[in-house]
Amino acid sequence: MIKIALSGAAGRMCRTIYKSLIGSKNFEIVYGIDTFIPDDLPFPVYANTKEIKEKADVIIDFSRANSLDELLAFAVSSNTKLVIATTGHTAEQIKKIEDASTKIAIFKASNMSLGVNLLSNLAKEAAKFLGEDYDVEIIEMHHNQKLDAPSGTAMTLAQDINSVRDNPLVPQFGRHETAHKREKNEIGIHAVRGGSIVGKHDVMFIGKGETVTLSHESASKEVFSEGALRAAMYLMDKDNGLYDMHSIIGNFYAVTSVTADKDISFVELPYVTANDFLTLLQHIKDANISLDMISQNVNPNGTLTIGFSLEDKDLPAVRNMIPNGTQYTAISGCVKLNTEGAGMEHKSGVALEVLSILHNLGATVYAITTSETKISSCINAEVLDSAVVELKKYYGI
Ligand SMILES: NC(=O)c1ccc[n+]([C@@H]2O[C@H](COP(=O)([O-])OP(=O)(O)OC[C@H]3O[C@@H](n4cnc5c(N)ncnc54)[C@H](O)[C@@H]3O)[C@@H](O)[C@H]2O)c1
Repeated sequence: MIKIALSGAAGRMCRTIYKSLIGSKNFEIVYGIDTFIPDDLPFPVYANTKEIKEKADVIIDFSRANSLDELLAFAVSSNTKLVIATTGHTAEQIKKIEDASTKIAIFKASNMSLGVNLLSNLAKEAAKFLGEDYDVEIIEMHHNQKLDAPSGTAMTLAQDINSVRDNPLVPQFGRHETAHKREKNEIGIHAVRGGSIVGKHDVMFIGKGETVTLSHESASKEVFSEGALRAAMYLMDKDNGLYDMHSIIGNFYAVTSVTADKDISFVELPYVTANDFLTLLQHIKDANISLDMISQNVNPNGTLTIGFSLEDKDLPAVRNMIPNGTQYTAISGCVKLNTEGAGMEHKSGVALEVLSILHNLGATVYAITTSETKISSCINAEVLDSAVVELKKYYGI
């Protein structure tokens, strides 16, 4: 049973957590902190942290940014882990959070939903794909009780987009009283407030004659309360440090899909010159054949060891393109096993896990290629079914 405390206990988000935990066997709320003391909650709520008598494992904070100093001082002095979901902190406050994280484990995220983190990844991909000629604007919408603007999520999205650009964009908050045309290096960030909108973020990439809009909408507050509880669970065995959604995504979503391409051949040429390889590639291109999993190593004598995979049906044609006398091996009837997950780039050791599972099954691994979110292994077909079963079992898919 994880003992949690709620900072901002009387507010909307903490009440959502409280309701979701009624009857829970995994979490117990031991106290709350709030400047307003409600009389309808079944746990003590303190306005002054000096009066707290109970001990929690993790404090979940959905309050106001101005609670930070007292909250950090209390969490550090009582050695309590902290999930900070509150938004609107200043740069100076964020520095204080970083300093406190050298003494306790702190998880901080301006948006606890998995979907928004996918939005961030898609926005980064779009920024890379569309390049720097497209203007970027973010529109965020929230209920009429929200205090801070723009939302912490909108600011995080802007930072994420900047992280993949050579020329960072400068936030332009609304365009009130700006008597000049849009600058190329602007990212417009606009806040809409009204009614009961839980939270919506649109990221627009606007080019000459077309607009791409990526959009995420939260339909209920539960998505945030579940995310905060997952973060609390995540912190339980963590040492001091500052953690964020990437840490969780790495932990829970390292591998989310295991698929296979069948009827694959793998060709290896252990001693070729760069010129001979380029000539071979030209012939392969002229025959409209696609290669995959290309690898190249330089041998001590300066020649190259080249490996590549292709479809079985194309192997006879490629064999004929390899000059007579050139040493090579070709294995047909293999499979390409693809393990993919958004969390892979945030977790180390996934290749070790995948290869250990394949090794334990006696697989022959002819080639491996990796990207940030994908590991592909060219293996013998006999182990495919058991490899898929074991990998899915290991990653809980
Ligand atoms: N990270 C996320 O995914 C996420 C999701 C939703 C909301 N939020 C953020 O969480 C915060 C709270 O949202 P809400 O909708 O529950 O707001 P709310 O106004 O309903 O609740 C805030 C509570 O904090 C209390 N409070 C005010 N000052 C305090 C202080 N100094 N110490 C302790 N308590 C104090 C208030 O009395 C209130 O009960 C906001 O900053 C919001 O932006 C984050």
